[in-house]
Amino acid sequence: MENLVFNEGYNEERNWIITEKIFDNRYLGKCEALFTQGNGYLGVRNSLDEKYVGERRNTFVTGTFNKASEEEVTELPNFPDVTNIEITINGKRLNLNYGQVKDYNRSINLKNGEVIRSFIWSSENGLETKFIFKRFVSLENEHLIASSVDIESNKDIDLVITTGIDGAVTNSGAQHFINIERRIHENYFMQYLTETSQSRVLGVIHSTYLCNYGDIDILPIMGRRTLLNKISASVKQGSKFHFEKISDIRSNRDKEFIDYNNDNIRDILKEKGLTSIKEAYKKGYDVLLNESSEKWNEFWKNSDIEIESEVEFDQLATRFALYHLNIMVKHDDNRVGIGAKALSGEGYKGHSFWDTEIFILPYFILSNPNTARTLLEYRYKCLYGARKKAKEYGYEGAMYPWECAWIDDGEVTPLSGGADVITGEELPILTGILEHHITADIAYAVWQYYQATNDLDFMKKYGYEVIIDTAKFWASRVEFNSEKDRYEITNVIGPDEYKEHVDNNAYTNYMAVNNMRLALNIIEKLAADDKDTYKKLDNKLNLDNVKSNINKCVEKVYLPLPNKDEIIPQNDTYLSLKELDLNKYKNSTEVLTIYNDFNMEKLNEYMVSKQSDLVMLLFVLEDLFDINTKKKNFVFYEDKTLHDSSLSKATHMILANDYGFYDLADNLFDGALTIDLGKNMNSSNEGIHSASIGGIWQSVVMGYGGLRLAHGELRISPRLPKKWNKLSYSTIWQGNEIKVMVTKNKLEVTNKGTEKIKINIFDEFVEIESNLTITREFKG
Ligand code: BGC
Repeated sequence: MENLVFNEGYNEERNWIITEKIFDNRYLGKCEALFTQGNGYLGVRNSLDEKYVGERRNTFVTGTFNKASEEEVTELPNFPDVTNIEITINGKRLNLNYGQVKDYNRSINLKNGEVIRSFIWSSENGLETKFIFKRFVSLENEHLIASSVDIESNKDIDLVITTGIDGAVTNSGAQHFINIERRIHENYFMQYLTETSQSRVLGVIHSTYLCNYGDIDILPIMGRRTLLNKISASVKQGSKFHFEKISDIRSNRDKEFIDYNNDNIRDILKEKGLTSIKEAYKKGYDVLLNESSEKWNEFWKNSDIEIESEVEFDQLATRFALYHLNIMVKHDDNRVGIGAKALSGEGYKGHSFWDTEIFILPYFILSNPNTARTLLEYRYKCLYGARKKAKEYGYEGAMYPWECAWIDDGEVTPLSGGADVITGEELPILTGILEHHITADIAYAVWQYYQATNDLDFMKKYGYEVIIDTAKFWASRVEFNSEKDRYEITNVIGPDEYKEHVDNNAYTNYMAVNNMRLALNIIEKLAADDKDTYKKLDNKLNLDNVKSNINKCVEKVYLPLPNKDEIIPQNDTYLSLKELDLNKYKNSTEVLTIYNDFNMEKLNEYMVSKQSDLVMLLFVLEDLFDINTKKKNFVFYEDKTLHDSSLSKATHMILANDYGFYDLADNLFDGALTIDLGKNMNSSNEGIHSASIGGIWQSVVMGYGGLRLAHGELRISPRLPKKWNKLSYSTIWQGNEIKVMVTKNKLEVTNKGTEKIKINIFDEFVEIESNLTITREFKG
């Protein structure tokens, strides 16, 4: 039997349910991450209620970054845990590794984010106890998390439940919290305050429980860093013991306290938490769940994508992606970004990478532009760290950190990690020092956002400044090679991280020039049309100086062109590297297995790529080369790409579909969908792959759905795979909602907005009045 199945949803719930069918202690991480619950403020990994060796129990509150010690970088700390509920039956602790387990089933319902786990456990001869555990994190009240437990036995049992607030948590050993204050109010309301050691963020946790069973004994326990209640009851054969636990988690970093300078903040937080938990206590699990489900219904009403496919998994996997896209971001707080593992695991420490701008933001730009704006405002706020980094490296302008955390943390990429298989030393991590393209990626994303929204207010307040200051960086970053009479960008890492210290990485050079050209156009346009904004920016950035610095170099930056074989070199040396038989690695079910045979120094000698680099360039700047050159380069580089990064397959899929390599596109699509949902039961231990989740949306909507935002136009040129009969999605273009319905040979586009729109459909410009639909037949 498969551990994970996808077809247990029936009728209304068809293609909404993911089920774990087997309890297997070796694979706890998989569903903990996949079934993560949250709302963008809170992220709670779905660890089981009872503890197991090997579990990773995580509760994160967005933005609460802390640096545990000097040798560590700042990271999102694990908040005190409220999910653990320990149960003993006749003195035996519930542990599914012992006794007999029947009818195990644990499912997430993507429709409302609730996880239900049920099973029958037999801990001693003739005794069978049925358990049903439920849990959700509220979408209605971002502070709330609730659990419920039903227990019923075929004999009388002595039941003990121990649960509360567990502050004895670390991030893999790194201790983040100090200064604990605890109390129980009115027997039922547990209160726990604590503070991060360096960033001084207060965490305030309240928990309460409801129990419907007659006679129960309650004993409060204050252990080291814990605050628990032990609840004992004698439960009669056949009667149901019902228990609920509700918790409220908040912090002084919450948005509501942004401009709050009050010494009493501790008291205010205590009061707010206590009031909230008392109200929640009155409502109970079911009412709270209904309130949250209503919010989820609203989300799905606006955001669902419908796929009619012979393979129903495609529909479910798409909803899985939409579910996570909705809970990975705090939609209304511009001080926080999206972590590479979102709020679903300790991997990458909650830090934001280019993953957001290039892989996730397209979804928000084209489906939820308000959230896209919030995310870009976060980058605006991170300009502080970007300017600091530029200065440190001797450059001008804004050089974005490869990894960003809290808005004024600056560069937070760790300096080492993993083992060198040859030397046995710790591997240096050079991305924070050498991976510079993120600066151009952010400027690119700002421009994409503007094209899709016409949000001039954003551009005037934030966007122009980001594009101009990043361009200023590039103008100072390029180096003049007098022999070749050109500017170059040497010693970088491009998107392909299997190549370090390279010169003239095509992706980096083209994107840097794109960044500088955008800035030049903006400066010229502002000088002509918007003197006020020009003046404001000029005071900050000295626009004449920026302009002349860019003009000095921009036309002379070396942009690698196709060689005699029509191949564009990924960098100066790539095409002269040794070839390697990659079959072994390509056929492996795991990623990064090449590291078992090579260290970075050796890897640099071979023509092998971790992820899209040149192919990525063909995707983001699609007009650089003619179609034959693009196809040829796609084939050349696809052959050398191991897709060892979860970011890679979706992009290759989209281009394979564009270029007519349909079987390959279909294969890559299946690969992109199964990065987290696939059979590798350890793939998501560190958390889900946020960029690949964005990539799922990209491959469905931008790939088969044919939606593209390029040179200021919205284009729709779909092509469905053989197994699909129909795809429906919606998008927002310049404030107007557009519904798209595609079958194998028909496309229907409906303008649901209030204004006339002009879009490109199958390479023909079409105007669609508000509330009208146009139809196009095509050869599928
Ligand atoms: C990839 C990067 C990515 C990072 C975070 C790395 O493995 O190579 O492109 O930004 O993971 O997801």
